[in-house]
Amino acid sequence: MAVNMKGKDLVSVHDLTTEEVYQILRTAEYVKMMNKTGSRFQPLSGKTLGMIFTKPSTRTRISFEVAIYELGGYGLFLSANELQLRRGETIADTARVLSRYIHGIMIRTFDHKDVVELAHYATIPVINGLTDLLHPCQALADIFTIYEKKGRLDGIKLAYIGDGNNVAHSLMYAGAKVGMKVTVVTPEGYEPNPEVVNTAREDAAATGAEIILTNDPKEGVRDADVVYTDVWTSMGQEKEHDERVAALTPYQVNPSLLAHAKQDVIFMHCLPAHRGEEVVDEVIDSPRSVVWDEAENRLHVQKAILALVM
Ligand code: CP
Ligand code: NVA
Repeated sequence: MAVNMKGKDLVSVHDLTTEEVYQILRTAEYVKMMNKTGSRFQPLSGKTLGMIFTKPSTRTRISFEVAIYELGGYGLFLSANELQLRRGETIADTARVLSRYIHGIMIRTFDHKDVVELAHYATIPVINGLTDLLHPCQALADIFTIYEKKGRLDGIKLAYIGDGNNVAHSLMYAGAKVGMKVTVVTPEGYEPNPEVVNTAREDAAATGAEIILTNDPKEGVRDADVVYTDVWTSMGQEKEHDERVAALTPYQVNPSLLAHAKQDVIFMHCLPAHRGEEVVDEVIDSPRSVVWDEAENRLHVQKAILALVM
C-alpha cells in the first residue's frame, strides 16, 4: 500500500515509519529504472527547490540540483553567506518567506536545531542535507545500495567503524527501521551520541534490528556483510585533526581488518574519503568497494524523496 508523504519533512530517518522508508526505496528503484531507460519522469514540473548551504558539498549539492532538474523542477542554490540569515534575520522569518516563493527546501548546516526550527516554521517540506548530528539522505541511499547488492536488508550485518558521527547516527536510525544489525566500532571517547543510540534501540525493538557498540575493531567487523567508514575529521572539526588521527588510526579500514568480515563483504563510504586515514587505496579501489554506486544512488534516492514529499 502506498503511503502519502506529500508535505512531509525529512529531518531524520527516525521520523519516518518503516513503510515510508520502504516507499522511498521502491520509488528510488523506479526512478533509477526510468533514468537507465532514458524515460521521462517529471512530476515536479514548475516547482522550485531552494538549497541552503553553510558547509561545502560535492555530492549533495550536485545530486540534488540534478535531481530536481531531471524531475522537471528548478534548483535554487542559496549560499547561507549571501542570505540575510548571515546578518541576523531569524531562521523562523527565513522559513516563512521562503515558503511563499518556493516548494521545498534542502539545507546543509552545522547545528541540527537550526534544521528542526526551519522545518517547524516552513509550510513547505524541509530536507536535511547534513547537520553535525545527522545525514539522513546519505543513510537512505546507503540502505538502497545495500539492498541492490545483497538483495535484502533484514538481518544484514553492517559494521560502521571510525568516528561516531552524523553518518554513523543516520545509519543506526536507518538500520533500526529495516531490521539490520548495526555495529558501531569506535575508540573510547568517539562513541555515537547516547541519545541517538537509545532512540535507535527503541526503533530497533520494533523491527528485530540490533544496535551494538564496541571499541574492538576485529570483534566489531567479524562476519560483517558491509563494512562502512567515514572521515575521522568532519566539517567543522578541522582543529582536532591531529588528535583524531592519533586516536582513530587503529580503526583504519585496511585489508587485514577487512579479513575479519564475511568473504563477500562490501565496503562503503559516504565520501569524500581521506585516503590513507580512515581507508587505504587497496580497499576503496578494490572490487569489494561499492562507493561509486553508493554515490550515484544519492541521485536516485533523493529524486524519490523529492517526488514523494514535494
Ligand atoms: N557524502 C556527501 O554528503 O558528500 P558531500 O559532502 O560532497 O555532499
Ligand atoms: N562526517 C562527514 C560527512 C561528510 C559527507 C562530515 O560531516 O564532514
